[in-house]
Amino acid sequence: MNENFNFLVRKDITFLNFGSFGSCPKEIFSFYQDKQLELESQPVSFIVEEGIHQLNNARKSLAQYVNCHDDDLVFVTNPSYAINTIAKSLPLNIGDEVLSTNLEYGALIRTWSYYCDKKGAKFVQQSIPLPLSTVEEVVDAFFSGYNKNTKAIFISQITSSTALILPVAEICREAKKRGLLTIVDGAHVPAHLALNLRELKADIYTGACHKWMMAPKGSSFLFASKNVQEWIDPLLISWGFQTENPSSSRFIDHHQTAGTRDFSAFLTVPFCIDFMKRHDWEKVSRSNKEMTIEWANRLKDSFKFNSISPIDDTFLGQMFAIPIQTTDSLKLKEFLWEKFKIEIPVTQMENRNFIRFSIQAFNDWDDYAALETALIDLQKSEIIKFC
Ligand SMILES: Cc1ncc(COP(=O)(O)O)c(C=O)c1O
Repeated sequence: MNENFNFLVRKDITFLNFGSFGSCPKEIFSFYQDKQLELESQPVSFIVEEGIHQLNNARKSLAQYVNCHDDDLVFVTNPSYAINTIAKSLPLNIGDEVLSTNLEYGALIRTWSYYCDKKGAKFVQQSIPLPLSTVEEVVDAFFSGYNKNTKAIFISQITSSTALILPVAEICREAKKRGLLTIVDGAHVPAHLALNLRELKADIYTGACHKWMMAPKGSSFLFASKNVQEWIDPLLISWGFQTENPSSSRFIDHHQTAGTRDFSAFLTVPFCIDFMKRHDWEKVSRSNKEMTIEWANRLKDSFKFNSISPIDDTFLGQMFAIPIQTTDSLKLKEFLWEKFKIEIPVTQMENRNFIRFSIQAFNDWDDYAALETALIDLQKSEIIKFC
């Protein structure tokens, strides 16, 4: 692991799990702590006035970064919060269906299943056959789950356990032709892939700022296009609801005020955007992607597994899922940490297991060597098999 950009993550370990939780560079974390100090030094004026002014500016800065109107985007703590807001409010009748995939994030499968059950609707997890081969095949596979009861689609732009980039632009376009509401889980997307919400034209989009944008934990956003804002209730009713001082956006009034909370992590987002600009982050990200492909190719040559997609930028960004067989994925993750000091998730999708690595600017070929050594050891001792 190298010292590039002064990330706070421990240097005596091999950290290959930026995808689950990012780590802040020191400069960003110091800015965050300064914001917390500012809050604590005059909590009343900060929470009621100055902080709100800064929050509105932070929202404008993020809206510009993801290219949408700043009245259509609101900070939330995490994508789960955003999707719970949507799934709870979405008007669904008995028999209606929400079309999704079998590659979605576990917490959000639970969210959709819960609210669909409650409303007598159906959450459909259409199977996307692996290995992926072409964009067209993925789009076709997805819409084979469509029928006249389908009202909305919910899909990840980058999947969690399988680390695949799904063709959401094509899928949203096709969904619109069929008159469907489009809801995209872009938790992994900001600062990982270029994100342009005006071009994507999804009705609803959530992204995490605390992953690849390197913001402190608890900073994410919910975007909703004007045509859908009307029916989205706040998950938490607070002073912004039926406010005596309405702003230009009812959506912002309803969703931005959420009781007393520390919103310093949100206020750090413009600093992260500036940090990325100053350090030419597009170039950094490009080089992380190249490294991901190089590692994946080398590992495939060494261990002869069947990759779940072509190893190129069609479906891959800065993460890669190595298909393995193991009897106990939890134990395997613990073992990788205890014996090798490698932080890496062992993910599960249906009955399949993967070891998923993520590449950030601090990763280097020493990390690769550590991972390869561990995989050789695990294979020799028959704890894992590649498949
Ligand atoms: C695809 C996907 N969606 C959503 C999330 C967000 O999870 P949370 O709301 O717990 O931050 C994650 C987290 O890793 C994810 O991988």
